[in-house]
Amino acid sequence: MHGNRILVLDFGSQYTQLIARRVRENKVYSEIYPYNVPIEKILNFHPRGIILSGGPSSVYDHGAPVPDLKVFQLDIPVLGICYGMQLMAHCLGGKVARARKREYGQAELIIDNGMDLFDGIPRKTTVWMSHGDRIEKMPALFQPVAHTGNSPIAAMANRMRKFYALQFHPEVVHTPEGKKIIGNFVVDICGCKPAWTMKSFIATTTEEIRQTVGDKKVVCGISGGVDSTVTAVLVHRAVGRQLACIFVDNGVLRAGEAKKVEQTLRRNFHMNIDFVDASERFLSILRNITDPEKKRKIIGNEFIRVFEAEAKKIKGVEFLAQGTLYPDVIESVSFKGPSATIKSHHNVGGLLKRMKLKLIEPLRELFKDEVRVLGKDLLIPEEIINRHPFPGPGLAIRIIGEVTKERCDVLRKADAIVLEEIKNAGLYKKLWQAFGVLLPVKSVGVMGDERTYENVIAVRAVNSTDGMTADWARIPFDVMGRISNRIINEVRGVNRVVYDISSKPPSTIEWE
Ligand code: XMP
Repeated sequence: MHGNRILVLDFGSQYTQLIARRVRENKVYSEIYPYNVPIEKILNFHPRGIILSGGPSSVYDHGAPVPDLKVFQLDIPVLGICYGMQLMAHCLGGKVARARKREYGQAELIIDNGMDLFDGIPRKTTVWMSHGDRIEKMPALFQPVAHTGNSPIAAMANRMRKFYALQFHPEVVHTPEGKKIIGNFVVDICGCKPAWTMKSFIATTTEEIRQTVGDKKVVCGISGGVDSTVTAVLVHRAVGRQLACIFVDNGVLRAGEAKKVEQTLRRNFHMNIDFVDASERFLSILRNITDPEKKRKIIGNEFIRVFEAEAKKIKGVEFLAQGTLYPDVIESVSFKGPSATIKSHHNVGGLLKRMKLKLIEPLRELFKDEVRVLGKDLLIPEEIINRHPFPGPGLAIRIIGEVTKERCDVLRKADAIVLEEIKNAGLYKKLWQAFGVLLPVKSVGVMGDERTYENVIAVRAVNSTDGMTADWARIPFDVMGRISNRIINEVRGVNRVVYDISSKPPSTIEWE
């Protein structure tokens, strides 16, 4: 029996996640497995079709990734993309060779056979190429179905066995018809029903949560960010007052944070929230600490301690709800999300054991953009849904050097001005993150007739799609001017503002 789902096997391409996302945009559920999972695991997933991703290897490389060859004997459609195409050719008896010229960038695809995979696609269309190898000889019973100037076989098919392969990347936005091509594969060729929507997700997930939780209680830590808010609202929809939320003020939050969370969740959803002001406790253990990783550890561990103490006060708690997302759980060959480096902060393993709690992670199958759509469907205000990411260790990693209450207050005021002006200029939604950083140096200035010797604020604003790479944002000079003027006039203790014009890599988004 095949489920209504598609499996993506990951051969290490940086675009693998995008394949799964494009499938889901066609309203068909999909998951990513590493290329070498045992065939039993694939069978257990009951895919109606398999997509082989691209990857950096060449099929002739020593140790090139190869899946269990039984994937070609399951009697279900297979689509190979780039490396996946070469692999298909190689495994099924064709021949792959190094292309004379590496093909990279946009190319014009000419469709020679407008069959099922290219149904509804114009005969000439732009596609994104990125490969060094090409198919020299197709396996038996395959036909070439499209070409480009450099690739005589840019797409091939064995329609009888429903094997298809593309030399280009349909999953990237630079291939405008890519989503449709993937849709043709998953819906028309594999026969999946396009029925996976956020509304159906809400219905099945709340029912599952209800079944799991029964009449027990659930505790959930909320930070004001999208993921924890959506998790809490979803669990709340399922079990109502059986959910208790805990919000910990760790002293390194932005201005007005606790209030905002309170207003949104209490007013809109009538949720049960316990606000814990642990700011003094956190600031006292952060005293004299200047090493960024030490700050992270201290804040992470202390959070667990405070959270545990609060959770213990709730009678009958058996579950902990957490906003883990799909990119954090994929056992991937190619990517480690920002989460790879921040795991220590979310390490609740010990807590689960000590309190004998079971974990509920209702978002663990979702990508970030899906969580945003889900949030909208759950009627969570835009303001929360489109919020910039904010790191767990908060302002502590934006205050270079020692973190004190006074320095937090200075940064909080400056940071609030940065955000306010960015929002006023209509730039907030376009940016990945924008914030202030308090530097550990002082500089000389004049105010009236007085010489001052005060703090410097650096403004950081970046564009990014996933936080892995980032480019500094070209904020208009007049907006920068307003930010600078206001910070210097309104924040006591600051007499200079600078703008960070470095991109990642090598410069991380946060300064610590
Ligand atoms: P970097 O500074 O590594 O940041 O370029 C990439 C993304 O991750 C966020 N970040 C963190 N988030 N705990 C978190 O929860 C952390 O310790 C942490 N460090 C960085 C950062 O804000 C950016 O979005």
